Amino acid sequence: LNNGLALTPQMGWNSWNFFACNITEDLIRETADALVSTGLADLGYVYVNIDDCWSAASRDSEGQLVPDPKTFPSGIKALADYVHGKGLKLGIYSDAGAFTCQVRPGSLFHEVDDAELFASWEVDYLKYDNCFNLGIDPKKRYPPMRDALNATGRTIFYSLCEWGVEDPALWARGVGNSWRTTDDINDTWASMTTIADLNDKWASYAGPGGWNDPDMLEVGNGGMTYQEYRAHFSIWALMKAPLLIGCDVRNITDETFEILSNKEVIAVNQDSLGVQGRKVYVSGEDNCLQVWAGPLSGNRLVVALWNRCSKAATITAKWEALGLESSTSVSVRDLWQHKDLTDNAVSSFGAKVASHDCHMYIFAPKTAAHSAI
Ligand code: DGJ
Repeated sequence: LNNGLALTPQMGWNSWNFFACNITEDLIRETADALVSTGLADLGYVYVNIDDCWSAASRDSEGQLVPDPKTFPSGIKALADYVHGKGLKLGIYSDAGAFTCQVRPGSLFHEVDDAELFASWEVDYLKYDNCFNLGIDPKKRYPPMRDALNATGRTIFYSLCEWGVEDPALWARGVGNSWRTTDDINDTWASMTTIADLNDKWASYAGPGGWNDPDMLEVGNGGMTYQEYRAHFSIWALMKAPLLIGCDVRNITDETFEILSNKEVIAVNQDSLGVQGRKVYVSGEDNCLQVWAGPLSGNRLVVALWNRCSKAATITAKWEALGLESSTSVSVRDLWQHKDLTDNAVSSFGAKVASHDCHMYIFAPKTAAHSAI
């Protein structure tokens, strides 16, 4: 969507993956505090996004949405002021249907009123869900909210959460700043890997202004190992996915912080070229040894060696899979070890990767440009 936003994928936090409906204005304020005090905000995680369950069960007598008086007694404007005071941005949630998924009022046929209300609260971001949609085509339900948001005069990030229904990559670039390519993620290796593969299919449709959204991060929620979470974060960054933290940042562990705060991996995600990396080579049983790669600005490449097998193995990226001439000399920087490994890899580069782990590198070719990916 050409609204000046999303020149790189959005970064921030969202309440759903960890808290679901257990949200309050205190939680949102404490999370904003924690994003700042941990330094995550300075690394780019600036959107503080409230998901489902912030609103009361019904509209008021004038037909307006109202924050749940028990959990958000001070209202959303007060929260926006607080979050803005910390240099952060506030996101809200609604649904392109009669109700949200947790059966709060939806915005279908209330687009203009609700967009005006969100703008009057100085909200910066809208995640727009797909429940209770009355069977109406999403291509008819999502544009009206785009137009209503645009008409408010406030610049509001528009995140489509249509769960990949009707292949949104094909039509959503002119509608939203990101669109979900899949159903919901959950905090398991099986879900995360499946979603990575589904999202990969749409790589060519992503770019500045609009991104494929394989759903929010589960890093830190406990269902995967350190190596699996590192792989999750690496591949989401490489795929130019939104980096929306989904854990409790008030109680973040050192390991989780180390993953989410890796500046070199974040820089891959936020690279100005804005091209989604993809799976470029597979080998091994069930294709579980994988090379994912994509171009970066400055004639560089990001390359991930991802071992989805059950045993440690050597994975090799061959130049031909990366679109490089085999004689090209490449310097290799390891983004997890934070080390320059070699100045002159030629024709291929391989490493032993632990089961379910993912190595991530920046390749800087000394000569020839890359074209095949
Ligand atoms: C479905 C969405 O895909 C989730 O991310 C979350 O927003 C829930 N609905 C909330 O009910």
